Amino acid sequence: MKKIVILFSGNGTNLEAIAEAVQESKEIEIVCALSNKANAYGIERAKKFGIKTEILEHKNFNSREEYDKALVATLNPYNPDLIVLAGFMRILTPIFVDAFENIINIHPSLLPLFKGSNAIEQSFNSDMQVAGVTVHQVTSELDAGKILAQECFNSNGLNWEEFNAKIKDIEHRIYPRVVKQLLLG
Ligand code: GRF
Repeated sequence: MKKIVILFSGNGTNLEAIAEAVQESKEIEIVCALSNKANAYGIERAKKFGIKTEILEHKNFNSREEYDKALVATLNPYNPDLIVLAGFMRILTPIFVDAFENIINIHPSLLPLFKGSNAIEQSFNSDMQVAGVTVHQVTSELDAGKILAQECFNSNGLNWEEFNAKIKDIEHRIYPRVVKQLLLG
């Protein structure tokens, strides 16, 4: 059984998409879902699937390094084969990134364009006619690791709601697929 840990900060729709995709699996198990925010809605979603949840709030730590040390200490006992960032709104230090072999993230733009936390707004407001989603390996450089999967769509004429819906639709399709590919080949 391959073990995955999902880290998130908010709504958790990607967490739910992955949980749905592996819930019947005898090969992949989500051993923990960890949030850095106690009020993240994703906690409810994880509980619905019977996934063990952990809350490790960054506001209780004085530095990124101290938080990341605690994060490593919390996750190590789970011995994960893969760490999946799903809307985990933290800049990660090498303390965390170097502690685990496989960490991936999903980002709502066609990287290397529009890195950072305003990707959807920047992508929507640009005059590009395509937009998309990227799944990439995580390194200590923000949104810069090796690209593992990417899907684009024609963004011409879409309004803000349609644009966001398209991003979510693609995310929920490609993230579970990449997780399965990485773990099961
Ligand atoms: C997603 O759009 C993802 O690309 C970004 O954070 C968002 C998380 O959404 N990194 P959700 O919490 O999974 O709904």
